[in-house]
Amino acid sequence: MSLSLYDSAHSLDGRSGWDTPVFSMKDSSDLNPMVTEAWEALCRSQVYFREKPVGTIAAYDHASEEVLNYDQVFVRDFVPSALAFLMKGEPDIVKNFLLKTLHIQGQDKMIDKFKLGDGAMPASFKVLHNPIKKTDTIIADFGESAIGRVAPVDSGFWWIILLRAYTKSTGDHSLADRPECQKGMRLILSLCLSEGFDTFPTLLCADGCSMVDRRMGIYGYPIEIQALFFMALRFALSMLKHDSEGKEFMEKIVTRLHALSFHMRSYFWLDFQQLNDIYRYKTEEYSHTAVNKFNVIPDSIPDWIFDFMPLRGGYFIGNVSPARMDFRWFALGNCIAIISSLATPEQSMAIMDLIEARWEELVGEMPLKICYPAMESHEWRIVTGCDPKNTRWSYHNGGSWPVLLWLLTAASIKTGRPQIARRAIELAEARLLKDGWPEYYDGKSGRFIGKQARKFQTWSIAGYLVAKMMMDDPTHVGMISMEEEKHMKPPLKRSSSWT
Ligand code: GLC
Repeated sequence: MSLSLYDSAHSLDGRSGWDTPVFSMKDSSDLNPMVTEAWEALCRSQVYFREKPVGTIAAYDHASEEVLNYDQVFVRDFVPSALAFLMKGEPDIVKNFLLKTLHIQGQDKMIDKFKLGDGAMPASFKVLHNPIKKTDTIIADFGESAIGRVAPVDSGFWWIILLRAYTKSTGDHSLADRPECQKGMRLILSLCLSEGFDTFPTLLCADGCSMVDRRMGIYGYPIEIQALFFMALRFALSMLKHDSEGKEFMEKIVTRLHALSFHMRSYFWLDFQQLNDIYRYKTEEYSHTAVNKFNVIPDSIPDWIFDFMPLRGGYFIGNVSPARMDFRWFALGNCIAIISSLATPEQSMAIMDLIEARWEELVGEMPLKICYPAMESHEWRIVTGCDPKNTRWSYHNGGSWPVLLWLLTAASIKTGRPQIARRAIELAEARLLKDGWPEYYDGKSGRFIGKQARKFQTWSIAGYLVAKMMMDDPTHVGMISMEEEKHMKPPLKRSSSWT
C-alpha cells in the first residue's frame, strides 16, 4: 500500500481512517516466507484441552535446558496470538481461551493461608495430559508459584480487552452476553473499583504485577497498569448489560474514567514545557492552591531526561506518587494510551513525535525498548535487588522486546503515521526469523540476542504477524482501539492567535 493511501485516511480533524473499511491489501504477506514460517510456528504453539485449542505456549524452545514456566499459557502472552487468530478468521481458540480462563477464575486461590480476591485472573495455566487415564487437567498460577509471588494485575484487564476484540471481530455478542461472562467482568471490576484509602483514581500496585514481572521499581501507579485499566474500563462499559447489576458498575465506571483520564492527562504527562515547569517547582506547598501537588523535589529529576526530552514530543511517565516521579519511558503503557484514547489526539501525536525524535534510543536495531533508560550500578542494585537477569540494557531493564511491535504498529496506524511502523517492521524482518524469534534483545541499541532469551517465543512470532496483518488491513486496529469519548475531552482552549 502506498503511503498516500494511509495518509489520506488520516483526516484533518485528528481522527484516523483505520475504521473505514475501504482498503484491504492481502498481497505482500501472503507471499512472504517469513509470514508463512511465523504461522507454522504459531500453530505449533497451540495448547489443547480435551482436543480443543485453548491457548498458546509461551515458548517452544526445545534447545533450552531450563523450561521454568515457559511451557505454560500466559494470559498476557496469548493476547497477540489471539489477535492473530481473530484477524485470520479463526476465532474458536480465542473463545475457548476466554471460557477456560473464566472457569479458572472461579477456583479458590490461596497463597499460603491467604485467599486472593474472587476476580483475580491467572498469570498462566498449564494443561496436564494423562496418557494412561486419557484425561486432561489444568493447573493455574495466580501468583502463588510465580517468581516473587506477585498476582498479575494485568491479566483481568487483558481478559476484558480480548473479550471485546472477539466480539468486535466476529460480531458475535452472545459470548459477552452470557451470564458467566458478565459475572466474570463484574468480578474483575469489583477488584479495582472498590473503595479504599486511595486519594488518586489510579490503581495502586505491587512491583512485578504486569509484563515486567520482577522487581523493577514499578510499584506504585505504573503507567502500564493505568493504561490497561483505562482501556478495560472502556471496553467493559461497551459490553456490560443494562440490567440492575450491570448498571451499578456502569455508573462507577463512568465516574472513574472521568477522574482517571483527568489525572493521567494532567499529572503523568511530560513534555518540554512540563519538564521545565517541574524543574522550577517550589516545594513544601500546602493547601489546594499548590502547584507542585505531589511535592516533587526538582533535585530528584534525573540528568538523562534533560537531553532526552525533545522540543516537540512528549509521553506519559512511568509513575507518579508522593514526592516520586519515575521519568522512565515505558513502551506498552504509552502505546496502550494511544490505542485506548487515554491520550488526547495531541498527546498521541506527541508520543509518536518523541518516538521518531528518539528513534536511536527507543528502537535502535530492534523494536522496541520495553523501557528507557536502563538502570545501572548503585541504582540497579537498590531498585532491582541486584537482579542478575535485569542488568543494564537487558530483559526488563532496557531490553528490546519484539512483541511490542504490534503495539507500536497499532499506535502508528491509529495516529495516521504507518511509516513509523513500516520502518520498525523492516528492522524486525532483518533479524527475527534468522535469530529464531527471540524473546528479547540486549544492548543499548538492541543488537544482541538477549542473555537468557528463549527462542521461538510465541508472542514475538504472533506480535510480528499481528503487525503485518494490521498494515495489510488497517481496519483490524478497530478490534482493540477506541476513539475519544466526547465527555472526556478537556474544554476547548483557544490559541493566543484566536481573535
Ligand atoms: C517473562 C515476562 C512476562 C511473560 C513471561 C512468559 O516472565 O516478563 O511478561 O509473560 O515471561 O513469556
